[in-house]
Amino acid sequence: MSYPQHLAIIMDGNGRWAEQRRLPRIAGHRRGVETVQEIVKECRSLGIPHLTLYAFSSENWGRPHDEVGALMELLGLFLKRELQTMLANDIRLKVIGEVGRLPGKVREILEQTVSRTAANSGMVLTLALSYGARNELLRAVRDVAEEVRAGRVEPEAIDESCFAGHLDTAELPDPDFLIRTSGEMRISNFLLWQLAYAELYFTEALWPDFSSRELHRALEEFGRRQRRFGLTGAQVQKPARRQGEKNH
Ligand code: FPP
Repeated sequence: MSYPQHLAIIMDGNGRWAEQRRLPRIAGHRRGVETVQEIVKECRSLGIPHLTLYAFSSENWGRPHDEVGALMELLGLFLKRELQTMLANDIRLKVIGEVGRLPGKVREILEQTVSRTAANSGMVLTLALSYGARNELLRAVRDVAEEVRAGRVEPEAIDESCFAGHLDTAELPDPDFLIRTSGEMRISNFLLWQLAYAELYFTEALWPDFSSRELHRALEEFGRRQRRFGLTGAQVQKPARRQGEKNH
């Protein structure tokens, strides 16, 4: 089966998972972190080269102060705990989003984890933190405009690859598969440019209930999709291999 080269996930439903059990919302986030650990491990062992997780959106800053604080604390704990796992499993950590808005302590742990894992190449785990795609696009537009003003770039030379080079994801391939949990069917300001041709998959499972089994179900569905990139089915269909023909 062919797996995605870049799987992106909108991890939704932690709050509802907790509310259904009459627990505080943070209990759902705590369980959500356990799911993150399981899914990272599974993707690594499947050989998926890029995994990007939407962990905290620009809009999430508007949540109650206590919830934001608890999420930041969980993130710090996760990073401290996962460093050894990332080093042992050749996982490189990256971050996209307005990292400067995160509390200093979290920023510090993030920077350390990013630099200590920088030489790893088995899988790139990217966390979207304080991330919003519109904000990312605006920052990229400002960067490009600055290049033009300084005379370093001609407006005619701004093509897709030049522009994409100014996004937070400059060094990443576009995701080919997006999973969103919890039954909501929205993109919620996530990777608007990069998801242009991604296959989308929605599941009712709440993020704390999402498991390796659910992941495999989603990956099987990805394997059945025909990615056409605007062409016709016949154009992209692989020619059936004749018997005895070599596999190149
Ligand atoms: C959405 O659930 C989830 C979030 C806003 C945060 C996701 C965070 C984690 C899984 C834990 C921290 C992450 C890492 C990488 C350590 P929701 O609260 O919006 O759920 P609801 O829609 O049911 O209220």
